[in-house]
Amino acid sequence: MLKTIKILRERVEDWNAYPFSVPAIQSLDELNLCSRVCLFAGENGTGKSTLLEAIGAHYGFGREGGNRNFRNDCTRSNHSIDALVRALRLSFDMRTGAGYFLRAESLFNTVSYMDSLDEEPAFAPPISAFYGGRSLHTRSHGETFLTLLDLKFRRNGLFLLDEPEAALSPQRQLSLLVLIHDVLQKYRNAQFIISTHSPIILGYPQAQLFSFDDESIHEIHYQETTSLQIVRQFVNDREKFLEELLTENLPLFDDQNE
Ligand SMILES: Nc1ncnc2c1ncn2[C@@H]1O[C@H](COP(=O)(O)OP(=O)(O)OP(=O)(O)O)[C@@H](O)[C@H]1O
Ligand SMILES: [Mg+2]
Repeated sequence: MLKTIKILRERVEDWNAYPFSVPAIQSLDELNLCSRVCLFAGENGTGKSTLLEAIGAHYGFGREGGNRNFRNDCTRSNHSIDALVRALRLSFDMRTGAGYFLRAESLFNTVSYMDSLDEEPAFAPPISAFYGGRSLHTRSHGETFLTLLDLKFRRNGLFLLDEPEAALSPQRQLSLLVLIHDVLQKYRNAQFIISTHSPIILGYPQAQLFSFDDESIHEIHYQETTSLQIVRQFVNDREKFLEELLTENLPLFDDQNE
């Protein structure tokens, strides 16, 4: 299990350049993980994926996802976190190298990469044979995601998920909670670290929640998460919520986009 995430500050070359320029990353000294389900919450752009990707790269996963045997590193930008990977110290009570990194955002690229490998002549069985027998492109986004969860997550290891809700309906997010519960019951050395905006996923019992808001990474309680508070207000009184939102013309976008 991953116990501590630390930035060795003496290894940081440039605090003004990405990824150290991201306030939550800049203020990170040491995070102590004490649960087998750790959830990263926080507003868009606060650094959740940056840290998750760096943890994955440090552990040996591809930047776009996969595991140590199947690494997909093909985007142009993803090497910009290398400086953070070099500055990270991850402490485990047992580091096996097993696990999987699944990003809803780059799933399409990952599946295309698998298909391209299968198109090349090889003596080994096709990759698709390990993913249900056919290209994952012939499944929907959510079906692909669930197939990978089902086939790659039922074992010991470190499992990283970046915004699984981008692929999963609310009902399937509940299926994800069931899968996590099932895996944790059966495999004592399984651990999940998940970046999410979903109030459903954030509600996993006994999870350790970290907020990346307010320019620092800090522990919070479920009830304090902005995702829950906004959805709760919306559902409890949608008419009033929308009336206030739309008549008061509250700014939804930062000035930087204007
Ligand atoms: N390759 C990059 N180069 C420079 N800045 C970047 C790069 N990737 C991300 N950023 C910036 O770093 C900040 C953190 O991005 P990150 O993707 O980690 O946010 P996030 O918390 O995962 O957001 P979201 O909830 O939208 O996924 C953002 O301001 C983003 O614009
Ligand atoms: Mg993100």
